[in-house]
Amino acid sequence: MIYFDQAASSHPKPPVVGEAMLYALNEIGANPGRGSHKLAKEAAGIITKTRKTASRIFGCSDPKKVLFYQNATAALNQAIKGLRWSKGDHVIATTFEHNSIRRPLESINKQYGVSVTYVPWNGDESEFLKQIGNSIRTETRLIAVTHASNVTGAVTPVEQIASVANQSDIPILVDASQTAGHKTLHMRNMGIDMMALPGHKGLLGPQGTGMLMIEGDIDLHPLNHGGTGSYSENPGQPSQWPERLESGTLNTPGIAGLHAAMQSYETRNIGNVPRETILSQTVLQGLKQIEGITCYGPDVQDERMPIVAFNVLNIPSQEIAMVLDSHYDIAVRAGLHCSPLTHETLNTTNRGVVRASFSMYNTEEEAEQFLQAIQEVTESYNLV
Ligand SMILES: Cc1ncc(COP(=O)(O)O)c(C=O)c1O
Repeated sequence: MIYFDQAASSHPKPPVVGEAMLYALNEIGANPGRGSHKLAKEAAGIITKTRKTASRIFGCSDPKKVLFYQNATAALNQAIKGLRWSKGDHVIATTFEHNSIRRPLESINKQYGVSVTYVPWNGDESEFLKQIGNSIRTETRLIAVTHASNVTGAVTPVEQIASVANQSDIPILVDASQTAGHKTLHMRNMGIDMMALPGHKGLLGPQGTGMLMIEGDIDLHPLNHGGTGSYSENPGQPSQWPERLESGTLNTPGIAGLHAAMQSYETRNIGNVPRETILSQTVLQGLKQIEGITCYGPDVQDERMPIVAFNVLNIPSQEIAMVLDSHYDIAVRAGLHCSPLTHETLNTTNRGVVRASFSMYNTEEEAEQFLQAIQEVTESYNLV
């Protein structure tokens, strides 16, 4: 199997990830922060060191403001719904948002009457920043942006958006689901107030892990209330971080795997263009040589995340994905990728696009086999 669906969930993982998870599961097992015996302390140690590692890697000043959730979606929901909203408040987002931002925004629109402006992003940075600036109103309470499109791999100029947001004293929430693990991220240096990311995509960690990191003194109210293993006499949720936003037993084996994944990420050479990005450029270049292929998103020389989006002739994307899976043993993702706004922008709502996405474990040989398969599939449709 050639696995080119890394933007959905990465596979395989560095072996240390599974090893750390098995150790936590089989040798520790206890509940972190819920007891003073040795195993509970060891479990708590895993959680604490993972917060510290994440805060170091992602430039979040306070490790206690590294919060664990089961995925990026839960982290984004906590960030968005945890703010205190009033009727008439306003949010700025982009037309590239995944439903994990769009749906929580639509939900606060319904619940509180918060309005949302979706600013289009077509690669023209100065026009985009101008439109964001022009969209700011006195009622604007949040700018929520994806750092990279999960459909095309296009990267948004987050630092510049943060600077616009900071000038107007508006907090910025960044969805780093498609950049974490592929691109250096440092909240403090980039001026980001809240950042959500999954463990299971570019970081090569396990499913069931995601983080929300908070910089500065943003106050969020919890979406869940319950046991924290601390201040049990208090009927209200503790005000301390991270307990105020983390109720119930954490996913210790998953977090152990996430820690191993982040350590492995730190040892990779993140200063250079990652191998998976080079692979995506090779695939894009190859696809552009095939007659009948339409490619979407940044051009070969432009910055991109390791994602390539395309269509074959006028064939529905789902059909191409099915042929690749059944005849060539190649896994890609087709359809709308939980991001209908992006497809409206690309004019691909009717048939979606085929998305191939890469990790450092994919190879040049796989890229060649993939291009050969697309060439054959396109020719076979041309014959019909
Ligand atoms: C840009 C973006 N945001 C959010 C998500 C949601 O991530 P998760 O499945 O970890 O909740 C995804 C997943 O595809 C994504 O690509």
